Amino acid sequence: MAGPTPQEPVKTQQKCIAMLALFCCSAVLMVLIFSSVDIWGDSEDGITEENCSRDCRIVVVENIPDDLSLRMDGRHHIPLSVGLHTLLEQAKLSVEVVSSVWDLNAWDVELAPSTAAQGQLLFQRLLRLKSRGVKLKIASSLTNSSELKALAADSAQVHFVNMTALTKGGLHSSFWIVDRTHIYIGSAEMDWRSLSKRKELGVVVYNCSCLALDLHRVFSFYWQLHDKDYIPSIWSKRVTALYGKHEALELQLNATPATAYLSTSPELFCSKDRTRDLDAIYQVIQSAKTFIFISVTDYLPLVKRSFRGTSVTRYWSPIDELIREAVVLRGVKVRLLISFWKKTHPLTFNFVTSLKSLCMQLHNCSLEVRFFSHKEQKEDFQLGLNHNKYMVTDNAVYLGNHDWVGSDFAINAGVGLVVRMKDGTKDRGATILEHIKASFERDWRSRYAKNLQKSKDQQGKYRLLQWSKNHWETKEENEWNNPL
Ligand SMILES: *[C@@H]1O[C@H](CO)[C@@H](O)[C@H](O)[C@H]1NC(C)=O
Ligand SMILES: *[C@@H]1O[C@H](CO)[C@@H](O)[C@H](O)[C@H]1NC(C)=O
Ligand SMILES: *[C@@H]1O[C@H](CO)[C@@H](O)[C@H](O)[C@H]1NC(C)=O
Ligand SMILES: *[C@@H]1O[C@H](CO)[C@@H](O)[C@H](O)[C@H]1NC(C)=O
Ligand SMILES: *[C@@H]1O[C@H](CO)[C@@H](O)[C@H](O)[C@H]1NC(C)=O
Repeated sequence: MAGPTPQEPVKTQQKCIAMLALFCCSAVLMVLIFSSVDIWGDSEDGITEENCSRDCRIVVVENIPDDLSLRMDGRHHIPLSVGLHTLLEQAKLSVEVVSSVWDLNAWDVELAPSTAAQGQLLFQRLLRLKSRGVKLKIASSLTNSSELKALAADSAQVHFVNMTALTKGGLHSSFWIVDRTHIYIGSAEMDWRSLSKRKELGVVVYNCSCLALDLHRVFSFYWQLHDKDYIPSIWSKRVTALYGKHEALELQLNATPATAYLSTSPELFCSKDRTRDLDAIYQVIQSAKTFIFISVTDYLPLVKRSFRGTSVTRYWSPIDELIREAVVLRGVKVRLLISFWKKTHPLTFNFVTSLKSLCMQLHNCSLEVRFFSHKEQKEDFQLGLNHNKYMVTDNAVYLGNHDWVGSDFAINAGVGLVVRMKDGTKDRGATILEHIKASFERDWRSRYAKNLQKSKDQQGKYRLLQWSKNHWETKEENEWNNPL
């Protein structure tokens, strides 16, 4: 019998269909991959990690509220508002901003005009960027801020990140990138309080396109989460970290050799090669030889997780452990400056007491804790608050967006900057580390930093107990978890 059996054409047909289906599938997949990669990745303006600038100038910017009297030791601090305005003056092409809060105009608060003025001024200048041909891009969590609406209506491109859908946390990151060349990272938010009534610390780095390029990649990550309710599993190469703890950027900071890299959290938000905030903190604490000074609003080694629909609070050991080891086993002197304010979790005192008791009967062991507190402010408990979030050691500084609270690292988005001075830079004059250390010591020695635990003042103790008790009773369970 000649010719194919009847089954053969059917088989070929089936093969064809299978091939076609496979082809279609891969075509769809390719389209998906490319749409998720290349539409997202925008141009990096021709500057690459090969020819970016590493000869940078760094300055510490601080906001010190008028009614705090802190001795400045003859050292000038650059006001935060001046730093931000200088950045805006430099801008020729683009300004990219991430902030958890947009509340520059103090709509709903009765204030002396001078208090609100800096916030309003900054808002006006952001609105006017467009007239100078400068693009303003903002990544924000979902908020109902009228300022963000005003900016989005006319002057800015705003991308919203639905943090509730992604991690059930908040977008606590706070940074600026100007022309992919200059950056700001620090504790301040786009909130009038950050420019007047709250104590903030950050850094502005000029002429540093290498670092700016990498920070822009973090920005791109947020930018691409716009309107998504999941974290894509495939990411553009343009969000891959350029530098990290194993391969830090070598640069000159104010003509002093140094290394730097960025870190992020939560873990879900760490793109390929990106160092986690916790690993950055780990590295900085581990490499400290003589001292570690930490200034954060809250210190609380607890994490809240939801487990089968209910929320469970657990001990969260990573940072607590590192501090204990540094103090007891390596003889590193540790100072912890925490804020004592309306939202201080009562267990803070227990954890702090536990840390301090480590040094009992030990020589060469020093761990001190002080609470920074300003007089009670009825109208707004954030006034005079020490909102700093950094750690400085004998050889490095870590400047982040998070308080040292387990839940913050677990679910909230933030970035950190690690700067390390190269060995043998001692005699080159004041470095950024010395500057930040001086700021820490200024606060530590100020009248606002109190040793609450040791207080022999019975009345004070009683007030503290009463205060804690009231907080136990009135505090919403999840209050300490939420952004300000
Ligand atoms: C940097 O290098 C890229 C590609 O190698 C090039 O296109 C760009 O013009 C260079 N930029 C500068 C400022 O030299
Ligand atoms: C958002 O703000 C507007 C007024 O600015 C108010 O009418 C509206 O109810 C707010 N929406 C939410 C969800 O809070
Ligand atoms: C954000 O995500 C939550 C949880 O998935 C969802 O309920 C909400 O509608 C989302 N909001 C927007 C504006 O997409
Ligand atoms: C950046 O570098 C250029 C060229 O070296 C210099 O003219 C400029 O003043 C620097 N900008 C800042 C803000 O330091
Ligand atoms: C411990 O302290 C003593 C006296 O202050 C000092 O002589 C000694 O070198 C210290 N040891 C270490 C390991 O730092």
